Amino acid sequence: MGKMESQAYDGVANEAGRAGGGQYGITNYQSPKPIYAKLDRLMALPPIGIKAAAMEEYLKFFERSCAKSKKIVAEAKSYIPGGVQHNLAFNYPFPVVFTRAEGAYLHDIDGNRYIDFLQAGGPTILGSNPREVREPVIELLNECGPVTGLFHEFELKIAKEICRHMPAVEKFRMLGSGTEAVMTAIRIARLHTGKKNILKIGGAYHGWSDQMVYSLKLPGSRRFEAHGIPRVCTKYTCEAKPNDLASLERNLRLNKIRGGTAAVIIEPVGPESGTRPVDKDYNAGVRRLCDKHGALLIFDEVVTAFRIGLGGAQGYFDVRPDLTVFGKIVGGGYPSAGGVGGRRDLIDLLAAGLESGKKKCYSGGTLAANPLTSVAGYYTIKEIERTNACVKAGLAGDRLTQGLVELIDRLELPYVAYNQGSICHLETAAGMFIKLDWLKIFKVLKEIKVRKLEMEKFGAAYMAEGVVTLAGSRMYTSAATTDEVVDDALVRFARVFANIDREGIK
Ligand SMILES: Cc1ncc(COP(=O)(O)O)c(C=O)c1O
Repeated sequence: MGKMESQAYDGVANEAGRAGGGQYGITNYQSPKPIYAKLDRLMALPPIGIKAAAMEEYLKFFERSCAKSKKIVAEAKSYIPGGVQHNLAFNYPFPVVFTRAEGAYLHDIDGNRYIDFLQAGGPTILGSNPREVREPVIELLNECGPVTGLFHEFELKIAKEICRHMPAVEKFRMLGSGTEAVMTAIRIARLHTGKKNILKIGGAYHGWSDQMVYSLKLPGSRRFEAHGIPRVCTKYTCEAKPNDLASLERNLRLNKIRGGTAAVIIEPVGPESGTRPVDKDYNAGVRRLCDKHGALLIFDEVVTAFRIGLGGAQGYFDVRPDLTVFGKIVGGGYPSAGGVGGRRDLIDLLAAGLESGKKKCYSGGTLAANPLTSVAGYYTIKEIERTNACVKAGLAGDRLTQGLVELIDRLELPYVAYNQGSICHLETAAGMFIKLDWLKIFKVLKEIKVRKLEMEKFGAAYMAEGVVTLAGSRMYTSAATTDEVVDDALVRFARVFANIDREGIK
């Protein structure tokens, strides 16, 4: 790939980062302002998609080359709701069945190989199924099996590792998932502060507990997706606008007359893994406002901890949250992974066992802190450290994004590519940037439908070209994403972009 010439991308890796000397996977932080300006320009246009004839050809790939997948998912529809169980699985034109994951690649049941930019939704920063983690896991399984319900020494080992890398995590409690960890952190915050309100950022995803299915994807969408969830469950959840400290403070003030804010919960790179990026000093600003208004600060580092670096995004931004939520990467992608860490006095509220006579924050999980996850997580952290995996993955993300920006500029397309190290965003249909206007809700609903279909089409086209992405708009790179893998992927993206229907541009 040629050296980047375009002015549009300012996230070029610096030499220190390229030499692997840096600790963090973000070598040059991109200012969000120009990104938002480009996204605004993209949203001012009608969706610019793939030509109908080219799309037809792409869909033929699935008919021709994914016959076994098609048969299995057709049968699955009779037994599994919707025929597929993973939120991140592609449904368009039908889900593909995968049988092998290795490093930077996925293989489906029909024998097709794909470049894997989904990386299971982010947990596999070392690449899929690394031997250095798999072998101790197999050893453990031979010795003790995955679970006993009793203490295993690797619980201590992994907790020590996490505390070592993240100074704000003085103690660590392992849980079953990111969703559970968010629930627990909120419960701790409420117990500690005696306040009820939880302030999140519009569009952010913090798992699927009742109280958190609120303003997902689109800021301001509130209970849009809270079907089956009583109003009372989201009564104490409210939102501030992304990357907007004034909005945060307004809400903190408002909450004062509603009983106060127990905690502000944020993803430190911005909602939806940085889909809505934040200013570099935003997190410090949130910390300041939390202190001013007596709220705890929860960092949801389900995606960023051990992806941005072993010190997490909190290390990169140099901001100390009161509580940190962990998920997927904490188990290296092995089930069941989650945890909450933070200030000693707060985490001690979770004391397990049969302690009585004190106020305790109830938490649990039969499979929480099981030996399998503890061993997998411990060796994952060790291997990340040994190989400087976060930096490698970040540089791969830079190379991929840089290549996409070049491609977009060369073809004069209105699309937007940006990244926070190994978290890469490619907005074409930009479904998450629809402006929610409740007075024009039918128009908005129609636009959501149209843009969602466009995103699915892009996702399917990338896949037919041999690249698996997250929902056609996000890509996670890993330490296994070599320069060759990135350059190969860029050739494939170029083939899709050669088929864009340019009618709507200008
Ligand atoms: C930022 C964030 N928080 C929480 C969660 C929920 O984690 P889990 O899927 O382990 O419940 C996710 C999952 O993708 C996430 O991205």
